Amino acid sequence: MIPRYLIDFDLEQLPGADVDVVVIGSGVAGLSTALRAARAFRVALLTKSTLTLTATRYAQGGIASALSDDDSPNLHFDDTIRAGKGLCEEEAVWVLVREGPERLRELIDEVGARFDTKNGKLDLTTEGGHSKARVAHARGDATGSEVEASLSRRLMYNKRLEIYEHYYAIDILTASGRCAGVIGMDLESGRLSYFRAPIVVLAVGGMGQLYAITTNPAICTGDGIGMALRAGADIADIEFLQFHPTALHMSETPRWLISEALRGEGAILIDHSGNRIMEGVHPLRDLAPRDTVVNEMVRVMKAPGEDHLLLDATHIPSEKLKQRFPTIYQHCLEAGIDITQVPIPVSPAAHYMSGGVVTDLHGRTKVRGFYACGETACTGVHGANRLASNSLLEGLVFSRRIMEDLSPEVSVGWRELEGIEGINYQFGRSQVAMDVKLLRRFLKQLMLDCVGFRRSRDGLGDAEEFMKKNLEVLRVEYQEAKGFETQNMITLASLMTKAALLREESRGCHYRVDFPGQDEFWRKHIIFQFSDGHVSWELRPIGKLQDKSYDWSLTKISEGK
Ligand code: FAD
Ligand code: SIN
Repeated sequence: MIPRYLIDFDLEQLPGADVDVVVIGSGVAGLSTALRAARAFRVALLTKSTLTLTATRYAQGGIASALSDDDSPNLHFDDTIRAGKGLCEEEAVWVLVREGPERLRELIDEVGARFDTKNGKLDLTTEGGHSKARVAHARGDATGSEVEASLSRRLMYNKRLEIYEHYYAIDILTASGRCAGVIGMDLESGRLSYFRAPIVVLAVGGMGQLYAITTNPAICTGDGIGMALRAGADIADIEFLQFHPTALHMSETPRWLISEALRGEGAILIDHSGNRIMEGVHPLRDLAPRDTVVNEMVRVMKAPGEDHLLLDATHIPSEKLKQRFPTIYQHCLEAGIDITQVPIPVSPAAHYMSGGVVTDLHGRTKVRGFYACGETACTGVHGANRLASNSLLEGLVFSRRIMEDLSPEVSVGWRELEGIEGINYQFGRSQVAMDVKLLRRFLKQLMLDCVGFRRSRDGLGDAEEFMKKNLEVLRVEYQEAKGFETQNMITLASLMTKAALLREESRGCHYRVDFPGQDEFWRKHIIFQFSDGHVSWELRPIGKLQDKSYDWSLTKISEGK
């Protein structure tokens, strides 16, 4: 039995505030939503660390969109669909590729982000799976840092917006079938409090920290999936965890990324004898989609003791390397590797969750008033394998769509919230003390070994056993962020394991050694739902990621007329 809320509470006993919109998360998705929402509404922006400590800040390669004369949204659409291996939602992909160019121009012209240019035009590069050069970048390989900095600068002085740093959102409040706000903890004082609001936008990013080896910063613990599941939203496609092929092979946490853009500029993957490993494997060779590159790397590294390969950029002029990839160059140099002189040791690392909280094309989840955006959401654009540099773009495109949906929702929402008496939740908690540090360490290694890029029924079965034994942790009432995070991590890990066991085929980022082929039957989404303390799953065909319950906005407005 999973409790609906991770903590017991009576809102009447807690300090609280009323706002129109709560945005949880300060990456590209959260900041862009908050920036737009604060033009018209009172907004609280919650973030569990400092404002700028996000995965967004670490993004290197750039933002993909069809901007050059020889490119088009149709070509970007084709590449995204091809990378997604039959599991993308086409309507969502059209939205992404058609609206993407305008959103990027707004980021530059209105928000003030400075992107790299060449001869007066955006300097576009290519990355894995792209048939055209369409990835715009900033400060060479510091795109995310520029995006994060420019968006947060714009937010700072907005009078309608309050920023709450070091505030951990524990759960989404719901009452009378709708979203009612957020309950959370101020991590500096350790005090619980709540925000009452008709609209909550979940933008809490990804979950790489479920794995012992990841490119994701410490904040990426998958909190959003746990929160949204408990609140009644659908969760989909979470078996598709993307590994990035080229993280710097050094024991640091997170692993430092060596951007795919380096391969876009000519770097090649070689084995220890200097042979090119992607030659003859895929027509795009080193720029094949990520799942293909990772699979080939794993195949080549099968010799005992082989745990990394090499990325050779030494044939690229050294001045170009230093100028185009200044942060990668500097980081490697500090680690004792001069990338202009020697090949870089690289290995795959957990990088991106293609699935997440199911939303429609306006960011609505199944729960009235509750939206999701960014990496935590599953709009259906990524399918079984995300195309490189489509993620920042997704955050920009869908945050704007959420804003367009909000106006009627805020007023309808307040009318409904006024009728709700008070919210109080008590649950029979477990008294078992569990060492979350130890549990996390075990979980991360287990996920890497058994629910990583090569999966089998035996390994997944072991993982499932572990999850079942340790789900008890969800019944403990913690008083600290590490405890809540661990509860969310184990929730997500057990769903991922279940989905990976169910999907008896190999597709995109999900590779089953016991089912190596792609199976037409599985052109379906695996959807998880939570109700009355239990999680159930169902299959939905492509084109039907959302069911009718997502139409709440339209239904309500026409009912109100
Ligand atoms: P994030 O940027 O991760 O922000 C999440 C926010 O939620 C943070 O503020 C966090 O503190 C907050 N949060 C989380 N849980 C809670 C909670 N319980 N309570 C309160 N706050 C919470 N994508 C590209 O398109 N192009 C790239 O070049 C690229 N490069 C990448 C390089 C690296 C090293 C990494 C790790 C990722 C890269 N990606 C790239 C992927 C991309 O950066 C992310 O998918 C994207 O930035 C996610 O944005 P987001 O707003 O959804 O989440
Ligand atoms: C990279 O720069 O290789 C990361 C791009 C991405 O994850 O989209």
